Amino acid sequence: MRIPLIAGNWKMNKTVTDAIELVNEIKDVANNTDVEVVVCTPFISLVGVSEILKDSNVKLGAQNMHWEESGAYTGEISPTMLKDIGVDYVIIGHSERRQYFNETDETVNKKIKSAFIHGLNPIVCVGETLEQRESGIQREIVKNQILKGIDGVEEKYLKNIVIAYEPIWAIGTGKTASSEDANEMIGYIRNIIKEKYGEEISEEIRIQYGGSVKPNNVTEIMNQVEIDGALVGGASLKADDFRKLVDF
Ligand code: 13P
Repeated sequence: MRIPLIAGNWKMNKTVTDAIELVNEIKDVANNTDVEVVVCTPFISLVGVSEILKDSNVKLGAQNMHWEESGAYTGEISPTMLKDIGVDYVIIGHSERRQYFNETDETVNKKIKSAFIHGLNPIVCVGETLEQRESGIQREIVKNQILKGIDGVEEKYLKNIVIAYEPIWAIGTGKTASSEDANEMIGYIRNIIKEKYGEEISEEIRIQYGGSVKPNNVTEIMNQVEIDGALVGGASLKADDFRKLVDF
């Protein structure tokens, strides 16, 4: 049985003051539910939010990390630093990082390996652009991102990977993939894992959908057999909406 995972990706939103306020409002959402809940805040808020989440079932995630433990990498944050303050999850390879900050399949691969070695669970994002979908090459694109991203990752770690299928054209646009399309693509992703690593791992790993998930479409999305959770941007920034997402 795969435990559903609802994760909020706050992106570059909320000051530390705002972050503390929001997390105080949602820290109880994971009580009395079988759903696993994660909030991925900006780096600067992680320490303060971590304090508040100490007595909560909500888990903490970061939105990126460097793969090295320490060193001369001005402006970067290491896995050791994240682990030290109680971070459990880390988003890797979000399309916005691939698009604006030169994230590549190679850096994604280094980060995934490093996350596992340091006891962090990576949420690895994959997804095609509108142009790629319209040319019918979305499967090829996603397969490539996944196989390059997890190349050489030790199999003992793989069952803890979370993959988030986020079609880029659905992010922040109000357009969602139809739940059937999302389900089909996520089934396809599971099959990629099955072909390469076997059925046991493929049945164990969780694959989320992301892209304009809102309170009014979350039930339909979560009712799809292949979809194990949602990675949510905009709707995770409002306590009421986030609560509704967790209660899908
Ligand atoms: P939105 O939910 O705002 O479309 O963002 C999705 C996303 O990119 C989550 O990582």
